[in-house]
Amino acid sequence: MRIGLLTAGGDCPGLNAVIRGVVARARQHGADVVGILEGWDGLMEGRFRPLDRDAVRGILQRGGTILGTSRRDPYVHGDGAASVRGAIEGERLDGLIVVGGDGTLRSSLALWEEGIPLVGVPKTIDNDIPGTDVTFGFDTAVQIATEAIDRITTTAESHDRVMVVEVMGRTCGWIASYAGIAAGADAILVPENPYDLSELAELLKTRAAGGRRYSVVVVAEGIAPPPGAQIVAPLDAFGFERLGGVSAVVAAELERLTGFEARVTVLGYVQRGGTPSAADRVLGSRLGVAAADLAVAGAFGRMVALRGTEILDVPLDVVRAEPRAVPPAILDVAGTLSAP
Ligand code: F6P
Repeated sequence: MRIGLLTAGGDCPGLNAVIRGVVARARQHGADVVGILEGWDGLMEGRFRPLDRDAVRGILQRGGTILGTSRRDPYVHGDGAASVRGAIEGERLDGLIVVGGDGTLRSSLALWEEGIPLVGVPKTIDNDIPGTDVTFGFDTAVQIATEAIDRITTTAESHDRVMVVEVMGRTCGWIASYAGIAAGADAILVPENPYDLSELAELLKTRAAGGRRYSVVVVAEGIAPPPGAQIVAPLDAFGFERLGGVSAVVAAELERLTGFEARVTVLGYVQRGGTPSAADRVLGSRLGVAAADLAVAGAFGRMVALRGTEILDVPLDVVRAEPRAVPPAILDVAGTLSAP
C-alpha cells in the first residue's frame, strides 16, 4: 500500500511529530509513505518525496514541517478533485493523509465527497477545530505567549505603562485566555466576549489609584475593532480575513481614555515557529500513528481526534461545524483572575 502525506495551511509546532508517527506506523504495517511537498500545491503539481524511516530521523524537535506547506487550495487554485486525481493515480497512491486546519480540512471533506480517499489530521495553534478537544501546536503557542507576557510585565512595571499584547487565534480566544491566565494578565479581550474600552479604562485607573500604575492587556487578534475603528484586512486563499493589528487601535483608545502611556506588542509568527513542547510532540505522534492505522485499514473520510485522553476517529464532516469557541467556564476563570 502507498499512502500520500501532506501538510497544508499555516504551519504549527508538532507537524514533524505527525509525519514521523505516520511513517513509523505505516512501516509496521508494511506500507510506504510518499511525502507531498508544499501542501496541495505539491499534489496539484506532482511534487513528491519518498519518506522512509531515515527521512524522519531527528525531526521531532524541529518546528515547521519538513514537507513544506502552502495556503494554496485545490478548490481555489484548481478544479477540485480533478486537479489532484492525476497526481494520485500517477504516483499510485491508495489514499492520502492530510494534516491541516479548518480550511484544509473543509477542502479535504469536499475532495472525499468527490471520491478522493483521505484521512484528516487536525492541526492549528488556534485550538478551534471542531471534533477534537485539543489541537497540537496550541500548547507550544501558549507557552511562547506566556513567556512573552511575563517579560512584557516587568518592563510595564518599570515604566508604569499599559502594555497591550496581541496574540493569534483567529475567531477564537484560546491562546489569549490560556496565556492571559497563565501570565496573570490584568485584562483579556477575546472574540467570544463583547468588551467595553471605557469600562476597561476605568479598571486601569482603579488599578493605578491602588498603586499598580502599570497594566498588561492581552488582546486576541480576532476581537471586533472598537466602535468607529476600521481595520482593512486582505483575504487569504480561503477567503478568511488576514488578521492582526487591532491592538494598535485598542492601545491608542486606552491611552486617550486614561491618559496613561500605552505600548503595543504583536507576538505574531513567533507563536508558530520553533521547537514544539513535549505535549505537542506526544499529541502529534499519537495522531500520526492513528492516522496511519486508519489509512492502512482503508477507513477514509475520517478525522483523527483527541477526546479526553483517548485518540479516536470521527467523521470528517465534523469540520462543517463552527470553530470551537472558548467555553464560558474558561472565560469565567479569565475574568475572575483579571478583576482589579
Ligand atoms: O491559523 C493559524 C494562524 O496562525 C492564525 O492564528 C493567524 O491568524 C493565521 O494563521 C495567519 O496566517 P498566515 O500564515 O497566512 O499569515
